Amino acid sequence: MKFFEILDEMFSEFEEYKDIQKGKGIRGRLITIINPNAQKLAAVVEAIHLASLLHDDVIDEADLRRGVESINAKYGEHTAVMLGDIVYSRAFYELIDFGSEIAKIVSNAVYLLSQGELEDVRLSKNINLDKDKYMQMIYKKTASLIEAACGGAAVSRGFEKEPFMKYGKNIGLAFQIIDDMLDITQDEKTLGKPSMHDFYEGKTTLPFIYLFEAMSEEEKEKLKSLYKKKLNKEEKEWIKSRMQKYGVLEKCYNEAEKLIENAKEAIKPFSLYELEILADKVVNRKK
Ligand code: IPE
Ligand code: IPE
Ligand code: MG
Ligand code: MG
Ligand code: MG
Repeated sequence: MKFFEILDEMFSEFEEYKDIQKGKGIRGRLITIINPNAQKLAAVVEAIHLASLLHDDVIDEADLRRGVESINAKYGEHTAVMLGDIVYSRAFYELIDFGSEIAKIVSNAVYLLSQGELEDVRLSKNINLDKDKYMQMIYKKTASLIEAACGGAAVSRGFEKEPFMKYGKNIGLAFQIIDDMLDITQDEKTLGKPSMHDFYEGKTTLPFIYLFEAMSEEEKEKLKSLYKKKLNKEEKEWIKSRMQKYGVLEKCYNEAEKLIENAKEAIKPFSLYELEILADKVVNRKK
């Protein structure tokens, strides 16, 4: 993918950058499906996404990213924060060349993303069981950039942006719901990042919100006692078995699928088959 080469070129002078692995490139792929000539815009959005991950791993105290030691684990938090700032600043510098409409769409998403990460931090201080708050937070931290990626690409192609932004918003929401499920269902090796880490970090993601809604008082007390605790194998298994008992993951999956249907519906008139395939991949991914 050409946009990854452009991305590497932007940051090759920074020695720590060489220790960063490639991700799935979903945001870049979305952009280049919508406009195959928008490789540079795809690189800029992937840069913004990368910067957000550099900061996110500091916030989440995650020592693994894309299958290797995270930058904060390897070089310390100071380096990760500053490398994140470097990547953000260069991305903004490059963004100016795309003109004010695209620059505003994308920079506004970074403004939202940062607010979403802050809300995530706030919500993780105590057990949050408010689904609306969770949905608003994941819209900001994750869906806003995917929405903007699609909107920016549509503008660059001369398409009307609204249907593409609706598509991006919906797959972005589904993407984070699935990410929150994978944290529970997959192991660290498959994910290339820590697993069963969200609850430990204080995050009651959608599966946990639904679990709390379904459980008996006694079970709720037990789950509360595990909050923010380093879990042993048995405790992890207990959580998974309760999720199975109450069909919590199916409920989350169905919700993600509904969002994907909404996304596909929004862009139907454009007959962009590849966007429909990618939307399905978002819900059916295993990592
Ligand atoms: C990780 O995003 C952060 C979330 C929004 C869940 P990706 O899963 O797209 O990360 P990479 O770029 O493929 O590693
Ligand atoms: C998404 O949240 C992070 C950003 C939008 C920056 P997570 O904290 O769940 O992402 P992962 O699981 O670490 O990739
Ligand atoms: Mg994280
Ligand atoms: Mg996080
Ligand atoms: Mg996650």
